[in-house]
Parts: sequence; structure tokens; C-alpha cells
Amino acid sequence: MKVLHSIMTIVVVGFTIVACGTQSDKESTRVVSSEIEIEAIGQSDEQIRLAKSLIASSDASKIKAVNAKKMFKNYCAVCHGRKGNLELNGAEKLSKSSASLEQRVAQIYFGKGTMAPFKGIIKNEEIVAVAKYLDELKK
Ligand code: HEC
Repeated sequence: MKVLHSIMTIVVVGFTIVACGTQSDKESTRVVSSEIEIEAIGQSDEQIRLAKSLIASSDASKIKAVNAKKMFKNYCAVCHGRKGNLELNGAEKLSKSSASLEQRVAQIYFGKGTMAPFKGIIKNEEIVAVAKYLDELKK
């Protein structure tokens, strides 16, 4: 009886491990395929998720302390123009952009097309501040 019990335990534990293994396989396949799909139209789900947490974790007072206008002039105006209405190197007109704050943060953080990523080049709160500043260009 004891032997049977041990065998049953091994079977149950083994089955659980196998079941978990296939579960995570399925999960990663799903994430990969949805990223490929979304990347064709904009930022991936994963990038938007990270942008959201980046916005949420950025200290409001730190964001406020950033001279976003100057940052934009120094880092972005070369392609987008000081007023955001240039379309150099295939850049979109920022003064007419309807991108959400999350999309903008993701775009700046990860880059896209000929726009290089700013991750690690400027601070996270600077990315959020400059993304917010883009609203000023639409006025
Ligand atoms: C080397 C040129 C270049 C620089 C520098 C640059 N961008 Fe861009 N930007 C682009 C290009 C090109 C696109 C379009 C990318 C695409 O969709 O393929 C773009 C797109 C964007 C978009 C998306 C607009 C939309 O409506 O989809 C945002 C937001 C943006 N840039 C913000 C910035 C900010 C903020 C900076 C400075 C921190 C910056 N960019 C610096 C070239 C540049």
C-alpha cells in the first residue's frame, strides 16, 4: 500500500510539472505572436505596458523639474523641428500627432524606424517630461 502511495505521489507531482511546462510554453508563444502583429502598426503591448509603469513610477516633482523645452530643442528638434512640424528623416509631424502619452513614452524609450531609442541616453523622468511637453506643440 505504501509503495502504491509513493507511485501515486510521483505521478501527481510529475503531471503537475509537465502541465506547468506546457502552460508556460503556450504563454510565450502567445506573447511573441501578438508582438509581431502589433509591431506592424505601432508599439508592442509589452512596450506600452513598460511605458505605463515608467509614467507611474516617475516622480511628479522630478518630471516638473525637467526643462522639457530645452530637452526637446537639444535632442528632438534636429528631426522634428523646434515647433514639432518638421518631417525630417521620415519623422512624423509631432504638432499633428494623436499619439497617447503611453505611445509617445514608448516611442521615445524604444525608438522606431530611423528614430533611435533614448533609453539610457536621457533619464526616465526626462522621457516622460518631454513626452508631456509634446502637448505644448499642438497648441
Ligand atoms: C533621428 C531623427 C529623430 C530624432 C532625433 C527624434 N525623432 Fe522622433 N521620430 C523620428 C521618426 C523617423 C519618426 C517616425 C518613426 C516611424 O513611425 O517609423 C518619429 C516619431 C516620433 C513620435 C511618434 C509620433 C506619432 O504620431 O506616431 C514621437 C512621439 C517622437 N518621434 C518623439 C520624439 C522625441 C520626444 C524626440 C527627442 C527626445 C525625438 N522624437 C527624436 C525621428 C526622430
